[in-house]
Parts: sequence; C-alpha cells; structure tokens
Amino acid sequence: MPELSVAVFGTDNDQRAVLQVLVDGTSVARTVCSNASLPLAANDPVIRRTQGFLPDVILVDIAADTTTAALRAIELLHQELPDAAVFAIGSMTHPQLIVNAMRAGAREYIERPTTTTDLLEAFVRLTSTRRKPGREGSRGKVFTIINAKGGSGATTVAVNLALALQSVHHSTALVDLAPLGHCALHLNLKPSFTVSDAISNLHRLDSSLLDSFMSRHDGGLQVLAGSTVPALVEPSASDFARLFDTMVGVFHYIVVDASSRLDSATRLVSNLAEKVLLVAHADVASLWSAGRVAQYMGESGSRDRFALVLNRYRKVAGFNESETEAAIGAPVLWRIPNQYFAVSAAIDRGVPVIQQGNSEIARSIIGLAHYLTKDDLDVKRTAWSLFKTV
Ligand SMILES: Nc1ncnc2c1ncn2[C@@H]1O[C@H](COP(=O)(O)OP(=O)(O)OP(=O)(O)O)[C@@H](O)[C@H]1O
Ligand SMILES: [Mg+2]
Repeated sequence: MPELSVAVFGTDNDQRAVLQVLVDGTSVARTVCSNASLPLAANDPVIRRTQGFLPDVILVDIAADTTTAALRAIELLHQELPDAAVFAIGSMTHPQLIVNAMRAGAREYIERPTTTTDLLEAFVRLTSTRRKPGREGSRGKVFTIINAKGGSGATTVAVNLALALQSVHHSTALVDLAPLGHCALHLNLKPSFTVSDAISNLHRLDSSLLDSFMSRHDGGLQVLAGSTVPALVEPSASDFARLFDTMVGVFHYIVVDASSRLDSATRLVSNLAEKVLLVAHADVASLWSAGRVAQYMGESGSRDRFALVLNRYRKVAGFNESETEAAIGAPVLWRIPNQYFAVSAAIDRGVPVIQQGNSEIARSIIGLAHYLTKDDLDVKRTAWSLFKTV
C-alpha cells in the first residue's frame, strides 16, 4: 500500500495533535500538514497551501462549536482538491450532521473520538477502491474465506480454491490467518515459518524475505502457514496491512483462510478483498451465525463484497434461498456438495480433493475459481480447460 499523505484541518489544537498521532500510528499514512484555520472561500490561501502538499486524504475535524464552518470547509476542500478524499471526524449522535457532511463531499464520516483502527480501516477502504481493475491492474486480488460457524468448511474451500487458482495462474498464495492454522495439514506441508515470522520481520520484509517464509506445495502454490500456537501478542491491523501490501505486489491471487477468526485483522483483510466468502451450512444455526458475522465484518465497509458459499449443500424442503439472502444481506454465490468421505479422507491424507481426480466437489470448487476470475482478462486467455484434466 503506498503511503498516503494526509492534511488535517481542525480548530481544536489538542484534537489536531491527537489526529496527527493517530494518522502516523497507522503506518500506512503520514500527516503532511496541520491547519488550525478552516478555509472560508475558494481563494483562501490555506487552500493553495494545502494543494501544494498534494494530499491523498484531508481530515476535517468537526468540533461542536464550529459545525457550520467545518461543513463549509469540507465543501470547499472537496471542490478545490478533487483528487483528495475528504474524511469528516465528528460526533455520531447527530444523524443530520453526518448527512450534511456527506452531502458537502465527505467520503467517510469517522466517529470522534477516533482510533487508529478507525482511520486505518478508512485508509484501506480508500486504497482498495482506488485499486479496482484498470487503476493498478498489476496488484494481486485477495479472496478472504470466513466460516459462519466453526467447522463449516472454510479451510477446505480456501485450500482447494487456492490450488484451483494456482493451476491456472501460477501465481497464487494461500495465507492462513486462522486462530490455529490447518492449511498446512490439509496440504501435508511441514512449514518452517509462519505468518508470525513474516509479521515480526515487517521492518525488512521484501519479496525475497517473504518467499523464504513461505512453504511451496507440489503444484507451486505458496503457503504462508498459520500459527501452531495461539499468539501471545496479537499483531495490529496495520501490521497486517503492511504484510498484505507486500503480498499483493508479489502474487496475482491471494486466498486467505480466516476460518473463525473474527477480529480487526480479518476485518482489514475483508476490506482489502475482492470478495469475502462466508462459508455456511444451509441450517438455521449456521445461517443465523452467518448473519451475525456479516453484520460485524460489514460494519467496516466491506459488506458489499460478502457472498455466501453454502457448503455440504443438499436440497432441504422449506429452505428458501432468497429469504436467506435478504436476512443475511449477502447473495448465495456458490453451493458445494456434501461429500463427507471424499473430504475427510483428503484431509487425513493431506491430498486435497481437487488433486484427486474428477469428483463432484472438485468440479464445484473449480467452478467457483472460474467464477471469481471470470472478468480477469489474462485468466480468460489461459486455458481453464486445464482443469478438465484434474
Ligand atoms: N463439502 C463437504 N462435504 C463433506 N464434508 C465436508 C465438506 N467440507 C468440509 N467438510 C468436513 O467438515 C470438517 C470441517 O472442515 P474445515 O476444517 O474445512 O472447516 P473450517 O470451517 O475451516 O473449520 P475450523 O472452524 O476448524 O477452522 C472437515 O472435517 C471436513 O471433513
Ligand atoms: Mg479452518
């Protein structure tokens, strides 16, 4: 992720100082200027000065006693610096203020008092929308896989999807972020390093060091294995932002197995993702959990990227798919058949189903990989028919 330049506006000196510390604390952004005076007109010198800094983001603090002036400032800054994204910082207790700030041109409205995580998530949202195809086509796409409930099949989907993508594109990584990683077991790998090693070496992480932390599976899939012990000190969301920034520069596709990890790291990776696949079973408890997970994860803005994958799917009388989609707020993207013996034997042997010939479940996951990459021009050119031999 390129470092974002941030201009801060606010009449309250203490609040501006706090915002500067928070911005710099995200480690993906840097404060380039801090202004106590709010612009009053388009020709206000503070606007010209700010233009000179070429900010990517402008934070405007809306203090209780200067709301009108702050809203006017948002409008002017949005108009005079059209390439910068204006983020308003203000109280959440006045819905009309939020609406007015957005109408004036704020792209985000962030709660005051603010945290580094709030800002980081907003910065990541901004960069990930700017990276949509066509803007920075060379950066990799992330697919995040979360389960609605423990044991729904997130790891099975992540491992097989990553293998399917690798066999076509040859530049795929699987990152295991699960609380206790199982990907290496599914692939019969014995990793020497894990995600924790990559995170503790972020200060010098480049593509070759990253490569040395990854384990290579037979067909070339690169795996950044998960922790084998619960982490004593959880890395911060900005650590993960930096890790994934390096990864999207190296790999074309990155499949993340988050399994049942529901924290700021998964939220961050969901914000970075092209799609977040929520793996659920078509039963009441699983779908209820899917709704809760989608709501929690979607709070940070990634909700429109969520899609349901119904695993172990079979037709159940009375199961209404459109009602389910409406209740959860995410479409059913894929249905994966229930093949317990094939899947559990595959896990026991460490040879994923997709590598074991032409089963119904292998075809289903290949279809999912195909669907997820159908708009990628370079993938269209390569032969998806390769998979027919799987
Ligand atoms: N399509 C399927 N058909 C039948 N059984 C399946 C299928 N997918 C997964 N399973 C079974 O469900 C179990 C859990 O799968 P998996 O480990 O992939 O789930 P998970 O969501 O990653 O679980 P965890 O909460 O442990 O991370 C496995 O033992 C596997 O045998
Ligand atoms: Mg798992």
